[in-house]
Amino acid sequence: MKAMLIYKYGSPDVFEWEEIHVPPIKDDELLVKAYGSSVNPVDCAIRRGDLYPYIRLDLPAVLGVDVSGIVEKVGKKVTRFRVGDRVYAFLGLQFNGAYAEFVAIPEAHAALIPSNLNIAQAGVVPCVGLTAYEAFTEYAPVKKGMQVLINGAGGGVGIFAIQIAKAMEAQVTAICSEAKAEVAKRMGADVVINYHKQNILKSDLRFDVILNCVRGSKIGQWKKLLKKDGRQIVIAANPQQMPFIKLSNLFSSTKSILLNVKADGNALNGLSALISERKVKPIISKTFELEALIRAHRLYEAESVAGKIAIAMNGNS
Ligand SMILES: NC(=O)c1ccc[n+]([C@@H]2O[C@H](COP(=O)([O-])OP(=O)(O)OC[C@H]3O[C@@H](n4cnc5c(N)ncnc54)[C@H](OP(=O)(O)O)[C@@H]3O)[C@@H](O)[C@H]2O)c1
Repeated sequence: MKAMLIYKYGSPDVFEWEEIHVPPIKDDELLVKAYGSSVNPVDCAIRRGDLYPYIRLDLPAVLGVDVSGIVEKVGKKVTRFRVGDRVYAFLGLQFNGAYAEFVAIPEAHAALIPSNLNIAQAGVVPCVGLTAYEAFTEYAPVKKGMQVLINGAGGGVGIFAIQIAKAMEAQVTAICSEAKAEVAKRMGADVVINYHKQNILKSDLRFDVILNCVRGSKIGQWKKLLKKDGRQIVIAANPQQMPFIKLSNLFSSTKSILLNVKADGNALNGLSALISERKVKPIISKTFELEALIRAHRLYEAESVAGKIAIAMNGNS
């Protein structure tokens, strides 16, 4: 099969288009013929070597954490899927391997693709969709009428977060640049604030739940926007902020909580139900063939696109 490999960490130019063996599968895994994937910030961070202290890949390696495709083969212990099923998954940061024509997926990470989603669209959903879904169902369950604030609302996670919070009948305030305001409104945000024009930290607005998707945010200042007992879910903290975040929760009714998205097929089934009900959908700004992955990663790093960059393989663009 063909795959995009890296032999060293670095710029998008480190990707090499090569012929390699189809991955073997374990008893609890599926072999999937891949049709879709995406570019996530974490794919770029792993490629650059930024996460090297935490994620040490055996090089050469195939990157990519999102996959959608059709089951080609199942391991002996697989019970939930059959050959021919349309599946998608977030593979997890230690696993990777999605930038290839065939991908091994642990059964526990996979879910069936909702019938109203085409297979290429499905490849952009798992990582960002699960992050937003886990935030609002597990870390800070969102209920009808709650005030929810999303910082970084025009990004991959933010666009799912707006729709999921609206599906839960919350009032949603979205913070993004002017360029993303239209998509934030279209996704259902009740209020859209352009952070270049208005500093919400200086307002007296208060929220039950904040999803903070912007790296470098001053987490302590954002926490002051919470109502009593409110929760701020932080997905993009820098390592040096982590001890401070835990300390700031002591003696306080409001909490900041760090989220690390889990590869979880059950949670993905929950998200699939919202997609099937047409309450949530992915937004794709541009699709690249897997062979053009270098251009896809370059585009992500050069521009802040609204929605996801999709990767198509096996002739499915
Ligand atoms: N912890 C986890 O498990 C987890 C999971 C997924 C993602 N993440 C991290 O979460 C972050 C967001 O991920 P993503 O996939 O949504 O990334 P993304 O698609 O690149 O979106 C980031 C968004 O933030 C916006 N932004 C930048 N500066 C801003 C500011 N000062 N105020 C408000 N918005 C601002 C950008 O657009 P505009 O400036 O044009 O509005 C962009 O839309 C990344 O750092 C990613 O690594 C963590």
